[in-house]
Amino acid sequence: MLADVRAGLFERERGGQRWLPPKYFYDRRGSELFDEITRLPEYYLTRAERTLLAATMPAWMRALHPAPGTLVELGAGSADKTRTILDAMRRARPDGVAYVPVDVSAAFLDETAARLRREYADLRVLPLAADFSTGVRVPRGLPEPVLYAFIGSTIGNLDDREAVHLLGRLAARMSADDRLLLGADLLKDVDVLEAAYNDRRGVTAAFNRNMLRVLNRELGADFDPRAFAHRATFDPAEGRIEMHLVATSDQAVTIPGLGTTWIPAGESIRTEVSNKYTPVRLGCILARAGLDIVTWQTDDTGGYALVLAAPVR
Ligand code: AVJ
Repeated sequence: MLADVRAGLFERERGGQRWLPPKYFYDRRGSELFDEITRLPEYYLTRAERTLLAATMPAWMRALHPAPGTLVELGAGSADKTRTILDAMRRARPDGVAYVPVDVSAAFLDETAARLRREYADLRVLPLAADFSTGVRVPRGLPEPVLYAFIGSTIGNLDDREAVHLLGRLAARMSADDRLLLGADLLKDVDVLEAAYNDRRGVTAAFNRNMLRVLNRELGADFDPRAFAHRATFDPAEGRIEMHLVATSDQAVTIPGLGTTWIPAGESIRTEVSNKYTPVRLGCILARAGLDIVTWQTDDTGGYALVLAAPVR
């Protein structure tokens, strides 16, 4: 974390932009705030994906031979949409399936695991507290083949090169019968996109500022979260929403071990990018990662996509 903060706040990007990795949003409070975001009227992503999963999973899972025995979910969070996938898998594998939720928020992960064990008596749940971007070590001896789920448009946090790298590493590890289920937000009307990251109740703003609280607690930094304004705008050239924290007055921030950095009024820290894909751009990322699209489906507005992919043989 200290190394990330040094790189993002002290060394900065070419051009001088400060940045912090979005994985630091998700302490307990941040995970709760994100859950609240998923229920906001403006935040269409979660609802669109849930509807799509309900519409596709039974048929998609029925069509897989051999049927997947293990679900590995990258960035599982509260695993709220996971049940739809698990239910469809269980119908095809009455001998029992296993579930490996992978998430950076360990506390949230344990609760998720406990809840799923209660709900599914016969489900083997093996939670993995890890940052999936640095590689996932799936336990051995689980029922095969494996269905990897990377849903929720988490892929949007990565630039295309990083997405190709992550999916490419996954593809290289996949057996011929393993599959990847990818959920991704698509390019759409700018007002709709920006509203989703600027909700009227200010939940996204609180979620954004929470990262400074995380740094204060974890590193003993002395950010004043009230001195930073939430900003989320769509960048058409990059095809992505950028979320920033903008200093509203000159700030001196001290981080033990790193020193003091001065952030003048009006300068910002970029806390997240959220890429919005065209189908072509998404197809390109998958192809470069060594993945073939098996089938895919968009919701009725054409604003969100679910993709089932297989390693190129
Ligand atoms: C969890 C990365 C998909 O980019 O939409 C929600 C996180 N940030 N509101 C997204 C988020 C602000 C979210 N992802």
